[in-house]
Amino acid sequence: MHNLLVSGGAGFIGANFVHYMLEKYADYRIVVFDKLTYAGNPANLDPVRSDPRFAFVQGDICDLDAVRNTLRAHDIDTIVNFAAETHVDRSIMQPDAVVTTNLNGTWALLEVAREFKLERFHQISTDEVYGAIPLPQRSREGDPLEPRSPYSASKAGAEHLVYAYFITYGLAVTTTRGSNNIGPYHYPEKAVPLFTTNAIDDQPLPIYGDGRQMRDYQYVRDHCEGIDIVLHNGTPGEVYNVGTEVETPNIEMAHKILAILGKPHSLIAHVADRAGHDRRYAIDCSKLRALGWKSKHSFDTALEHTVRWFVDNQAWWRPIKSGAYLEYYRRQYVERGDAA
Ligand code: NAD
Ligand code: DAU
Repeated sequence: MHNLLVSGGAGFIGANFVHYMLEKYADYRIVVFDKLTYAGNPANLDPVRSDPRFAFVQGDICDLDAVRNTLRAHDIDTIVNFAAETHVDRSIMQPDAVVTTNLNGTWALLEVAREFKLERFHQISTDEVYGAIPLPQRSREGDPLEPRSPYSASKAGAEHLVYAYFITYGLAVTTTRGSNNIGPYHYPEKAVPLFTTNAIDDQPLPIYGDGRQMRDYQYVRDHCEGIDIVLHNGTPGEVYNVGTEVETPNIEMAHKILAILGKPHSLIAHVADRAGHDRRYAIDCSKLRALGWKSKHSFDTALEHTVRWFVDNQAWWRPIKSGAYLEYYRRQYVERGDAA
């Protein structure tokens, strides 16, 4: 494993993973293959752009020939697939994109990985595939998948394809199911960066419903370390959960962001709930810990680092919150009658 194709590497977690891997492994080469959708941002890769071990190819994972040509040109031995349509609200508004990219795109990558007899295909999946988990339960890797949104259903479908390629064709696959990531380069449509950037600008923080829904918010670097350990020490055919095992209600997360920024708590605005909103995800990560991994950042530390990054990097997010983003924001929050 030396020549990695990181699909979706211009997005939030993918870019953090590329930075992390190039820092850690002097002899690895990384090619980012990314369509540059609204969520893909070349600026996320600025810290590695001049590194001779790094290359960027703009392409769609659904395009078999483009993937083939890239694998051949760069002598790729491993694919790590981050490429996806990742926002649950957008998947509710317009479900076709998650089926195209998350299902068909994953299939296309698997097909080419099989053709090229790659050493490893690693799929980045999500704790959302388990569905809503009532207290005090915690999901383990062998539990049934009960996804409930178009996004999570497409990610579960992709996982089934990945496993089918392991059983049917003997492709060496691994999968990680991560909880909610927070950290640098997080696109400001997701709750933590949206609330943070709105709060910086004294704008309302739109909390869905009662805000008592719980998420396991983990620092993106911890997730990247987990993926690295599974790539190197995981068993082909296996799935590994990655998270902190601590869940926080969204309303608490919003109050903490306001406290870090010294902004008034009156900025919190309860708005109409997300359709089919999963109340709680909670995963058991003992399988990954047995490989020597542990989550290093508490929620408070991760949130503090994240909020500070957004305060210090306004030149990164201000251009994003314009144009098409504002159109999305209007549809998502104002047209629905959610305007705070
Ligand atoms: P993101 O939305 O920030 O980035 C996705 C990237 O994929 C973008 O760069 C985009 O341009 C690219 N992309 C989309 N469609 C593509 C296509 N057809 N071909 C090539 N590239 C394409 O996403 P993220 O939050 O970094 O998530 C990355 C992966 O991690 C996804 O698979 C997601 O399901 C999974 N995941 C995310 C989280 C989270 O909290 N963000 C948690 C667990 C798992
Ligand atoms: O659990 C992992 C998943 O985490 C990933 O697979 C997804 O790609 C990623 O987007 C994330 O999904 P969520 O739906 O949990 O993340 P989001 O940031 O959209 O929402 C977090 C919580 O905050 C959720 O309970 C919904 C709520 N929320 C979200 C937004 C955008 C609000 O209350 N208001 C908002 O405006």
